[in-house]
Amino acid sequence: MKDPSFRRSLTLFRAFLREQQDPAHCYTLLARDAADQVEAAYGPLAGRTVVDVGGGAGYFTEEFRRRGAQAYLFEPDSGELGEEPATGTVRADGYLLPLADGVADVAFSSNVLEHVDDPVTFLSEMVRVTRPGGLIYVSFTNWYSPWGGHEWAPWHYLGADRAVARYRRRTGRRAKHTLGENLFAIHVGPTLRQVRARDDVSVLSARSRYWPFLAETVPKVPVLREFATWNLLLLLRRCP
Ligand SMILES: C[S@@+](CC[C@H](N)C(=O)[O-])C[C@H]1O[C@@H](n2cnc3c(N)ncnc32)[C@H](O)[C@@H]1O
Repeated sequence: MKDPSFRRSLTLFRAFLREQQDPAHCYTLLARDAADQVEAAYGPLAGRTVVDVGGGAGYFTEEFRRRGAQAYLFEPDSGELGEEPATGTVRADGYLLPLADGVADVAFSSNVLEHVDDPVTFLSEMVRVTRPGGLIYVSFTNWYSPWGGHEWAPWHYLGADRAVARYRRRTGRRAKHTLGENLFAIHVGPTLRQVRARDDVSVLSARSRYWPFLAETVPKVPVLREFATWNLLLLLRRCP
């Protein structure tokens, strides 16, 4: 499906609404979509080396392999990996990847940056392992996004403590995410400024990952971008 288009956004949104009931469908679709975005920015994945940092259950790695890439999944949490992680899965933290400099054609990370307390170091490690001219794909849900509080959204707008307490009251379950432990308030404007100030990457695209229109315009508008971007996708090229 073409990115951006209404059909694509609607299909992804519908799958997202059923994510709890049918995660395989949701993440398979999202992985296909992300691989399309990588190929649109970088060319065919066949024969390329891809590292998927914080890849969770491995849907993205699997899709990259389906397209002929040598893809490796780096994930620190064995609970996320599932019962039988695929060959080429490495239990490792994104802050310290067990890789030499410049080995990857594509360093990929989907929806991980908001889960690390030091996104600058995390991104630097992705840049380090990417070869000059290679692509870095990073996307994250920013804090003021309607989905910023994840399972306790949109009540995070009233503060994390209230949102978490409400979630517990309503569901009887403990929330998966705790602000300051495994979910961090990351913002669009400061992240864009940090990335643009780097001299080891150039920004190919900074856009709202799921938007069907104005995808590159929304992240340019101060204040509005913090609420409307929903999920920021950065496509970066590693400088020589
Ligand atoms: C919301 S999940 C995203 C999974 C998958 N990338 C996706 O888009 O569906 C966040 C993932 O980030 C991982 N993560 C958290 N901290 C990390 C770190 N320091 N390095 C690498 N991965 C990390 C978590 O274990 C989890 O699998």
